[in-house]
Amino acid sequence: TTPLRLGIAGLGTVGAGVLKIVQSRANLLAQRGGRPVVVTAGSARSRGKDRGVDLSGYAWEDDPVALARRDDVDVLVELMGGSDGPAKAATEAALAAGKDVVTANKAMLAIHGQTLAETAEAAGRVIRFEAAVAGGIPVVKALTEGLAGNQIARIMGVMNGTCNYILTRMEREGLPYETVFDEAQALGYLEADPTLDVGGIDAGHKLSLLTAIAFGTRVDFDAVELEGIERISIVDIRHAADMGFRIKLLGVAQMTGRGLEQRMSPCLVPAQSPLGQLEGATNMVVLEGDAVGQIVLRGAGAGEGPTASAVMSDVIDIARGYRVATFGQPAAGLESARPARATVA
Ligand code: NAP
Ligand code: HSE
Repeated sequence: TTPLRLGIAGLGTVGAGVLKIVQSRANLLAQRGGRPVVVTAGSARSRGKDRGVDLSGYAWEDDPVALARRDDVDVLVELMGGSDGPAKAATEAALAAGKDVVTANKAMLAIHGQTLAETAEAAGRVIRFEAAVAGGIPVVKALTEGLAGNQIARIMGVMNGTCNYILTRMEREGLPYETVFDEAQALGYLEADPTLDVGGIDAGHKLSLLTAIAFGTRVDFDAVELEGIERISIVDIRHAADMGFRIKLLGVAQMTGRGLEQRMSPCLVPAQSPLGQLEGATNMVVLEGDAVGQIVLRGAGAGEGPTASAVMSDVIDIARGYRVATFGQPAAGLESARPARATVA
């Protein structure tokens, strides 16, 4: 059988995790995908860097766009990050060259995902992005496959583990925001630009993707009402606890009288609810379908193994020949379902 050949652009935390799975589970992947899954080429900024994985069997490209265009690459696995620049250029090059794309890049998809998905659709290609939302939690597949027979009434979730870590530490240890922020930075939890985390932007990116899938609308990150956790004080947290609540950076998307509402903001949640019991750098997504009722998914939203696990699920789907677009053209009548905004980030 013909192997599925991957070109991996970005060999950092997630890229190394993907390589470890491909290298250690060849038989399992071939069995699950129906054909062998191999890596033929890789790309990163610095060639000589020790990445904790053996790169000797792969071709190397300094330029991720050249990697995307290689004849021995069937699927571009984009794991560089950044909404524009090399990630977008390589994704566009891959689609133009007739290749499918798997990416974990929520920043790119929240801004350009609609256009990229339409480009892919026109070219008969797919872009898959399970890892872009809630890391290891298979929430994209839960919505597109498991709950495909439902009208989704609402999605809610804690989708940024770093913010949940900060809020949990503040509450449990009685530490001020600034102290826990510094601690999270020392632990390497925060993005290079911490505003992406604490400003709610990263979580907002994820919510905009889930919303488009759940409600069949265009990806519309600008319509997400955003507020971060920077102004949450220990006093706020104590007052909430006195009333039986905890403060979470919570995303909510639901259809309301004024259209489709998307909010990512600090919220009070009952301490005894599943969301209220979420501790540390963890994610939780609550999905409400008209037929199924409420589904709660909880797990690691980041990290080498969990994120690589999600990337590989997309790779295996492509090996199996699944060609269904995750989002693309919205259903008729939903294009204008955009709320009047209260706040703009
Ligand atoms: P990372 O550790 O910073 O790795 C990024 C990789 O991209 C590095 O190998 C880097 O090269 C390479 N790179 C950056 N710019 C490049 C360029 N211009 N040309 C070629 N290569 C370039 O990032 P990561 O944590 O693995 O994240 C990768 C993606 O997954 C991002 O979109 C991120 O948002 C997403 N994601 C990550 C997690 C997580 O837990 N880490 C979870 C969910 C989603 P060098 O190594 O040579 O510097
Ligand atoms: N900064 C993100 C988080 C990484 O803390 O959840 C995973 O997307």
